[in-house]
Amino acid sequence: MIFRQLFHQGSCTYSYLVASRRGGEACLVDPVLEQVERYLRLLEELELSLVMAIDTHLHADHVTGAGRLSAQTDCVTVMGRETEAELVSLRVADGERLDLDGVTLEALHTPGHTPDSYCFLLGDRVLTGDTLFIRGTGRTDFQGGDPAAQYDSIFGKLLRLPDRTLVFPGHDYKGDTVSTIGEERAFNPRLQVGCVQDYVAVMNGLDLPKPRLMEVALPANRRLGLPPVAPEPVSVLDLPGAYFI
Ligand SMILES: [Fe+2]
Repeated sequence: MIFRQLFHQGSCTYSYLVASRRGGEACLVDPVLEQVERYLRLLEELELSLVMAIDTHLHADHVTGAGRLSAQTDCVTVMGRETEAELVSLRVADGERLDLDGVTLEALHTPGHTPDSYCFLLGDRVLTGDTLFIRGTGRTDFQGGDPAAQYDSIFGKLLRLPDRTLVFPGHDYKGDTVSTIGEERAFNPRLQVGCVQDYVAVMNGLDLPKPRLMEVALPANRRLGLPPVAPEPVSVLDLPGAYFI
């Protein structure tokens, strides 16, 4: 399997390129708009054809490259069926499997950071989006965030995966790249809680500033990063009474 973790410095986002083999089909998970040319170059270098661009959720901190990638490569865009994003060509549900030349991505609905948050399980590894970070978890204080739902997603789904499962998050702000489920259960400070109420109290006490790009990113991502369709240009001569100046 080809598996690449691609970092975007501006938003500390990790995007992932997955393919079964050189020359085969590929997918990109959480592509960033500013990095589209880089992805296209890498796809060409590895002789891969992009068939899917997946967003793990509606992002508030960067604009997705999924729309532009789809326009340039005809790939399918994928998000969870709970998403409010438009223009998504394939909406997945919990437990659904996406096949990529024999590599399977299993969609796990993990609401909490947002109602449309999904993780994707790929054999020995899981792409955790903004649900589980290395020694952290995704914030739950806006965009329909729900710390109790996130507790259920993490404790009821992710931490039930085998301990050796590799954890590849959607962001890292400290330079960490990969962890495991066993490590996060043992050492993630947010997961050292006895019950859901304790977790809710931890998350509600974070008091984080809003993401800098939120006002731009949310409306843009509802259109998968594509610009709004401009209204048909109206000639002044088409307006009623235009000839009667
Ligand atoms: Fe996010």
